[in-house]
Amino acid sequence: MLKAAADRGPPQRFYEVDYDLTVSSQDWLEDVCKGDIVVLIDYFGFPADSICAAAAKQRGAWILEDACQALLSTGMDQLSDFVLFSPRKFLGVPDGGILSIRPRGLLGDVKLESSPADWWLKAFLTVVLRREFDIHGSNRLWFKLYQETETQSPIGAYAMSELSRLLLMHSIDYRETARKRIVNYQELARTLHAVSLFPNLPPGVVPLGFPIRVEKRDMIREMLFEHEIYPPVHWPIAELVPKSYQDSHRLAANIMTLPCDQRYGTQDMQRMADLVLSRLEQ
Ligand SMILES: Cc1ncc(COP(=O)(O)O)c(C=O)c1O
Repeated sequence: MLKAAADRGPPQRFYEVDYDLTVSSQDWLEDVCKGDIVVLIDYFGFPADSICAAAAKQRGAWILEDACQALLSTGMDQLSDFVLFSPRKFLGVPDGGILSIRPRGLLGDVKLESSPADWWLKAFLTVVLRREFDIHGSNRLWFKLYQETETQSPIGAYAMSELSRLLLMHSIDYRETARKRIVNYQELARTLHAVSLFPNLPPGVVPLGFPIRVEKRDMIREMLFEHEIYPPVHWPIAELVPKSYQDSHRLAANIMTLPCDQRYGTQDMQRMADLVLSRLEQ
């Protein structure tokens, strides 16, 4: 999103989040003007800051709710003008995003192109190999391809592929997917609450993953890699966010997201929690 806006859009400004991932001050809202776009994020599936949304809206801004991490959560902010989803973060589809536009007819007919074929084929191969890795283990080629497709991801007015659209429309049990994520999250919260960023899961929240904050983050992550568990870091922000946002940077240095998605069950959660706990206690 940053890259897309940097290349074509108006200047961007950031607001700070603290070590708890909450918006630490409302002062920045005084600089919000009519016609600005204020991006508020549903972090890890949890609802974005509705006080900021109301204040920004009152100043005449558009609200873009970034729900890329909240595909399955309910209760998107009623004030949001746009809500953006990224199904591939939750489900094994190769590509595509969904933008819900609340003001009727605002953008008219937007013509979207197909994404470049060579990129798409690589993204498709990545999800096929990832699926095989989940079933059979061992071959980690998917990870290399995943990193390549992420960095080479085309920026422009591209449509979701027909394959992703059909999979999303017809092949997914959304209720069961949400249930498994919630159960897995609760299992991790039971054992890892001391390091959890959000120990409680409110109704309506379907988590992306289970974010934890630990001083020994890189060491623990390496250890988990050795056990074929791959927690992503949301987000490496060093070069992007103002250096003066010290709490945001401290959080980025300590955070990682343990997977708790529908591919896993309670035993997987217990095994992962035990590994983390054993290293924390050393
Ligand atoms: C909050 C948030 N918004 C947007 C994105 C970008 O989504 P995509 O990679 O599907 O373009 C990400 C990716 O991690 C994200 O975490």
